Amino acid sequence: MAETFDISLDSLAGRSVAPGNGAAAHLSVASVASHLNGATFFLETFGCQMNDHDSEKVAGVLLSRGYRQVESPEAASLVLYNTCSIREKAAQKVFSRLGEYRTKQAAGQVIGVLGCVAQQEGEDIFERAPWVSLVCGSASYRKLPELLARVEAGNQRVTGLDTDTDETFETPVTRRDNPWRAYLTIIEGCDKACAYCVVPYTRGPERSRASDSVLKEVRELAELGYSEVQLLGQTVNSYADPSSRRRRFSELLLAVADVPGMRRVRFTTSHPRDFGADIVAALETQPRLCNHVHLPVQSGSTRVLRAMTRTYTRAEYLEKIAMLRGARRPIAITTDIIVGFPGETEEDFGETLSLLDEVRYDGMFSFKYSPRPNTPSLAMPDAISEEEKSRRLAILQKKQGEIQGERNAALVGTKFEILVSGKSRRENQWSGHSGCHKVVNFTSQRRELLGTYVQVLVTGAGHNSLVGQQVT
Ligand code: 5AD
Ligand code: SF4
Repeated sequence: MAETFDISLDSLAGRSVAPGNGAAAHLSVASVASHLNGATFFLETFGCQMNDHDSEKVAGVLLSRGYRQVESPEAASLVLYNTCSIREKAAQKVFSRLGEYRTKQAAGQVIGVLGCVAQQEGEDIFERAPWVSLVCGSASYRKLPELLARVEAGNQRVTGLDTDTDETFETPVTRRDNPWRAYLTIIEGCDKACAYCVVPYTRGPERSRASDSVLKEVRELAELGYSEVQLLGQTVNSYADPSSRRRRFSELLLAVADVPGMRRVRFTTSHPRDFGADIVAALETQPRLCNHVHLPVQSGSTRVLRAMTRTYTRAEYLEKIAMLRGARRPIAITTDIIVGFPGETEEDFGETLSLLDEVRYDGMFSFKYSPRPNTPSLAMPDAISEEEKSRRLAILQKKQGEIQGERNAALVGTKFEILVSGKSRRENQWSGHSGCHKVVNFTSQRRELLGTYVQVLVTGAGHNSLVGQQVT
């Protein structure tokens, strides 16, 4: 794993979420169909937070159709994999999961592939894994009820593979997994066409949700007891309100933060091109907007950035960083970096290393370039060997680890407000995130801290997390 911080859109871990927690209890019973008595589903999610949240919405659709969620594929009548294809390894994982499961498939059990691999591979999945009967890409989820009805009627090969939709995936019920932090997609798809990236092919063009609809959902979340919301989008700050209100992204941020009951508002992922001074000004003036920005740079070399069609130079990116560093309150900055893009020279790589020194990020996700189907970089010459990519990745991560160690050490003695989200098996040990998204493990003699906000004094620091004790 290349990640050194835990907020990426692509953490790659395959997760199945235990049913029944979070806001499950808030599902409207009236909407539950009765004709599917006994139908159960198992849903495993790979990849990014957008996928996590799509899975929450898919679970909502299934629950409202009368399905019950179960914790193992063996116990389910419908087994769904929500897949990621951002790098080859992630896509392979799905086929190995399908392969593993083949021998275990029970009679009448339906297997479906959702998400980016479904979109990318389409009907070929039926050839590679004939035991699959549903293939539905991420841009077609709004058709899910209709597709499920066909599966339930016994159709063997059901597909939803449109990408030309101008609609977003909104469901009347969403079964959220985390009881305190709610994800909320405000923009789907991507129009940026970075040379290495499959997202524009798998998730289709950019579509923003009307700002009033976003605000209505935030108010509902607050009423359900959520105090933290994370606005999601592949390029969240490219948000373009399709309604007549025409709220800018920064205006939407401020409006979300004004919803009574909301205490923390996050957003990810920002694209440097659309990151303007108005966003920094919003962060400066409204403390409920978390002081953390994830601003992927991908490379420190202007030459490589140009080859990647990232639409900014190193200098332009650094101007955005200067804007953030000049803000009236400290703002944590994290990034994504790709090493070994075709043609990346030792000198280019050196510029990425020097960028780390210049910016001193609070966190970084780093990846070896992975050639992906349909992308322009597939045809680029001067591929870098796997061995060399691994070498560069190791150097990069070592450097960033040192920087994070130093940055975190400087925080010893300071206080953070932590939203408590974890309890250790060890007595009096808790964990949570600060507003700037640091993981803090701390001791407290109090009980029932989960979901509450506490003040923690930092007493120690590692590369990836802080240690502390509760002070109030
Ligand atoms: N190879 C390696 N990393 C990639 N990413 C996107 N596409 C690729 C690829 N083909 C990384 C980028 C992006 C993050 C979500 O995944 O760094 O910001
Ligand atoms: Fe992919 Fe680039 Fe869009 Fe991000 S901005 S999703 S890297 S095409």
